[in-house]
Amino acid sequence: MSRHAEQASALTVSVALGAHDVTSRHATELLEEPSLVPPSEAEPGTLNQQLPAKFFALDEHFRAAVGDLRDAARARSDEQTRLQFGTVLQACRDCHRTFKNPTKPR
Ligand code: HEC
Repeated sequence: MSRHAEQASALTVSVALGAHDVTSRHATELLEEPSLVPPSEAEPGTLNQQLPAKFFALDEHFRAAVGDLRDAARARSDEQTRLQFGTVLQACRDCHRTFKNPTKPR
């Protein structure tokens, strides 16, 4: 799952450089990663059935933010790209706060 961290680093660089085409490409790649789909009742015993609904909600929120970032980069808006990148980082933080080493103080 830490592959998402590599992709985020690449995004940081392209946003910092104002390289809209690169940002748009990285965001698209991130969105093309297979996402975890919430299990249905018809799929007993699947691994993702062990995850709480909140994880899927946070992942969906994150992916929506990445989609908005991609749209801003496609529109070549410096202002919107910067703002949407902030929203993406907030979504990273929201998920880690709940699911990454939840027992550690932060
Ligand atoms: C939906 C949940 C979720 C989202 C969104 C998310 N992460 Fe994570 N991330 C995790 C979990 C869970 C782990 C720990 C498990 C693992 O490393 O696979 C993790 C681990 C990491 C790590 C490894 C850190 C360490 O101490 O090993 C980095 C770096 C990271 N994430 C960066 C990011 C960045 C940057 C974003 C946003 C662009 C992001 N993550 C979005 C859930 C998420």
